[in-house]
Amino acid sequence: MSKIDTLPIEEDSVANPARSSGLAFDEETFRRIGYQVIDEAASYLNGIRERPVWQSMPDNVHKAIREQELPAEGHPFEETLAFMKHMILPFPQGNGHPRFAGWINSAPAHAGVLVKPLAAAMNPNCGIGDHAGQELERRTVQWMMELCGFPVEGSAGVFVSGGSEANFTCLQAARQWAAQVDGWDVRAEGVQGMHRPFVLYQSDQGHFCIRRSVEAMGLGHMAIRIIPSTSSFQMDVERLRQQIVADWAAGLRPFCVVATAGTVETGAIDPLDDLADLCDEQGLWLHVDGAYGAFGILDEHVAPLYKGIERADSLATDQHKWLSVPIDCGCALVRNGAALRAAFSLTPPEQDEHEPWLSEYTLQRTRRFRALDVWAIIQSAGRNGLAEAIANNNKMALLFAHLVETQDDLELISSGPLSIVRFRFAPPQLRNKPLPLDQLNKAVAYEMQQRGRAFLTSTRFQGKEALRACIVNYMTTEADIQAIVDETLYVGRKVVSRYS
Ligand SMILES: Cc1ncc(COP(=O)(O)O)c(C=O)c1O
Repeated sequence: MSKIDTLPIEEDSVANPARSSGLAFDEETFRRIGYQVIDEAASYLNGIRERPVWQSMPDNVHKAIREQELPAEGHPFEETLAFMKHMILPFPQGNGHPRFAGWINSAPAHAGVLVKPLAAAMNPNCGIGDHAGQELERRTVQWMMELCGFPVEGSAGVFVSGGSEANFTCLQAARQWAAQVDGWDVRAEGVQGMHRPFVLYQSDQGHFCIRRSVEAMGLGHMAIRIIPSTSSFQMDVERLRQQIVADWAAGLRPFCVVATAGTVETGAIDPLDDLADLCDEQGLWLHVDGAYGAFGILDEHVAPLYKGIERADSLATDQHKWLSVPIDCGCALVRNGAALRAAFSLTPPEQDEHEPWLSEYTLQRTRRFRALDVWAIIQSAGRNGLAEAIANNNKMALLFAHLVETQDDLELISSGPLSIVRFRFAPPQLRNKPLPLDQLNKAVAYEMQQRGRAFLTSTRFQGKEALRACIVNYMTTEADIQAIVDETLYVGRKVVSRYS
């Protein structure tokens, strides 16, 4: 008999402490409440079309949330569920609704919702250990590479919190690589030493998270050279070349070009192949920010625009955008897997006693089981299902742009190649009056959101306030697109009539 078998164990001392603390439920309760939770989730998802896209929280709800007292004693979970049902679930951000086109926030794919309790029940730390969570992540990350046309052999990647962190992770690899090329170690020395100042390049359409990454890396955002874009909102490669050459000549250290495959403002895709040529020629790292658009490559109509993505040194992707993975999930992919590891690892590869843990490839050590959602969604949709949904979003954006063009009161600013449409409510009598038009478009977005029939946002683009429709919801139909355009016209005319 082993020692442990001889220990006196009282039934109650095993069963009760956790239960009386409220941290565990008995099995019957867990199942009963669990079924209720699933029922709530099913009703939420299936009833989404019938509810307002967005509604503001009434005062009593604000109050009920803000003034909640920290409970000294636990409550039955049924009470918690009832609170969620009445005070939380009716007030979503709006994404998930097929007429929500405000930000690039998609609806959650159902398989991703359903595996959440299982991931939480297992609760593995996917940064360390030898378990199925890490194994599944390694394979699912390779699927990400395959989906985006990024080479698998020799590459490495990790799931992270989203596009911002994916870019940050890749840029750290780029910087570490550049220092190593120059014979020093930026992780050891930091950026205070007597080395040539790093500079990197991004177009004027690039995302602000690059600036935040560069600031966080201690380079200072003056290290970013903003390269003008062409009339199609793509980075101007010739202007980029001139800037790189001038920076080398000035004694700086150009190290990375940040291209974008799917800009946040218009969905433009930078000329990746030309940029890869230039990076080869100048000895720079080519990073592609594909947070919004990398998976657009699955739409065969636009796939040729991604030529060159397979030559990128790194690629940031966002599963919680176009793969409909429930927030949060991004993925950093690096062509030279050793370079990604070199940016984070504390264990020299020669000391490995087992396959390196994923925490060697990222800042985060304890990491949730992100791969399970991504894997389950791909299992249920397959590459073809994902491609169909993405291609349909792009088609809906084309329809949107067409409808805008047929309306005298609307002005199309940009559309394609992906699923973002930029436009303004601009009735002919106001076309030459910039100030009222700016205010008008802000008011249109605001009023539309309040009415809850559709959801757009407005931002400044090229010096003008403009509406932006981002179509990334797999449920959005032609009728939804027509409804969003109709709602824009209705609200716009109503606002104009109020002021005239
Ligand atoms: C091109 C691009 N890069 C980066 C990001 C940031 O991604 P996240 O919000 O997931 O951090 C976005 C978000 O819209 C984006 O469109």
